[in-house]
Amino acid sequence: MAATVIRGGTVVTAESESRADVLVVDDKVHAVGKDVEAPAGARIIDATGAYVLPGGIDPHTHMELPFMGTVASEDFFTGTSAAAAGGTTTIIDFVIPAPKERILDAYKKWRGWAEKAASDYSFHVAITWWDETVREDMGTLVKEHGVNSFKHFMAYKNAIMCDDEILVSSFSRAKELGALCTVHAENGELVFRLQKEIFERGFTGPEGHPLSRPPEVEGEAANRAIRIAEVLGVPIYLVHTSCIDALEAVARARLEGQRVFAEVLAQHLVIDDSVYRNPDWNHAAHFVMSPPFRSKEHQAALWKGLQAGMLQTTATDHCCFCTPQKQAGIDDFRKIPNGTGGVEDRMGVLWHHGVRTGRLTPSEFVAVTSANAAKIFNVYPKKGTIAPGSDADIVVWDPEKTRTISAKTHHQNIDFNIYEGMSITGNAAVTLSRGAVVWEKDQLSTVKGAGKYVDRAPFGSYFDSQKKRNGEGLPTPVKRERPALAK
Ligand code: URP
Ligand code: ZN
Ligand code: ZN
Repeated sequence: MAATVIRGGTVVTAESESRADVLVVDDKVHAVGKDVEAPAGARIIDATGAYVLPGGIDPHTHMELPFMGTVASEDFFTGTSAAAAGGTTTIIDFVIPAPKERILDAYKKWRGWAEKAASDYSFHVAITWWDETVREDMGTLVKEHGVNSFKHFMAYKNAIMCDDEILVSSFSRAKELGALCTVHAENGELVFRLQKEIFERGFTGPEGHPLSRPPEVEGEAANRAIRIAEVLGVPIYLVHTSCIDALEAVARARLEGQRVFAEVLAQHLVIDDSVYRNPDWNHAAHFVMSPPFRSKEHQAALWKGLQAGMLQTTATDHCCFCTPQKQAGIDDFRKIPNGTGGVEDRMGVLWHHGVRTGRLTPSEFVAVTSANAAKIFNVYPKKGTIAPGSDADIVVWDPEKTRTISAKTHHQNIDFNIYEGMSITGNAAVTLSRGAVVWEKDQLSTVKGAGKYVDRAPFGSYFDSQKKRNGEGLPTPVKRERPALAK
């Protein structure tokens, strides 16, 4: 038996904040309370003056993703290690099958790649095409492989984009299975057309990217996906909500009582679209991601959406491409691989800009960095809290620890950092992944393969509450005389 006592800190969960010790035995939290007795030989971690938080859950990452003719540079080991340095101990990554690839085969391939992960991980599976095998494999994935969420890209035409027919088929199947539908909301047809127009107007560099993906394009798709979900009576989760247009669609639906969840990326909260006009092509290209960075007006609205609970989770969409990879689009912004990093920095950036500014309380910080994701994706209270029986994924969080973010010192496998030069106060002092210390004294001690796949059971009760479209409340059909057939 390996025991650890974290002493003297303030334990914060989404529900409460209290001075308490935490006893960890093997990979689980054993007890939380005042003056917890340390078993003989227990390791003691002094958390005086620090917060003790549930390890972060990043519900949106893309480790070693094959995408746009290249492969994301961060693999499951380097990525989960970098995450641990920043206090994140669980990622939910994406299986993205190529069109016509059996989705079950793709899932098995991703499981193989992820075996090197240093901390825990799970998978959403993308629906990129449709036929009977996809329908069947969705069932197998939910019933036998612990998958409870499916992803739908409404953008990336001629690659992985779903049209409305696929959305409707997949959402309906997910409903039967008790699985959650997630969407990347951008109108892929409009993006395709605008990209061509913008390019032909002479915008060949990275500044063409945001011009081809304006907020309306995201707002339209967000609203369409939400309304399709409403008609079918399924809950829906929007990834990387980046603008007022999409946020308003979410807020409107939630205020109507629809079960809509939405995520915001840390980078969309703190970086604006001026980055695309940087005279250094390499610099500007590193911010090419979709949806793009927006104006400060959108940023301010996203913060309010997060504070108001309209946006429930924060993520990174960690999808790293190094400079030579980005340069595939040197003459044409449409060929720049889309993606930015940040899995290491999410918690620190959110603490600094969220908690230290008074926008979020420490409990709200926990809610948006772990607890809400754990609840929405059905792994709570195994993950997302500190309570007896929970996995011992814990961060001793030093609210006064300052660091200046830089690619020179980060642990991510990418030669650029989108937050370069940003000084943040509040950082992980010690990170435990299922009871093992993986980050301490600014040193990583992650172990390749120590991460475990997290099974996520399908949903029961909360799907049953979507009764609106199950035939209830419909008027009776009108009884009529059959008219004579017109000649
Ligand atoms: O630009 C992005 N976000 N790249 C990763 C794929 C996606 O759209 O999530
Ligand atoms: Zn996306
Ligand atoms: Zn993504």
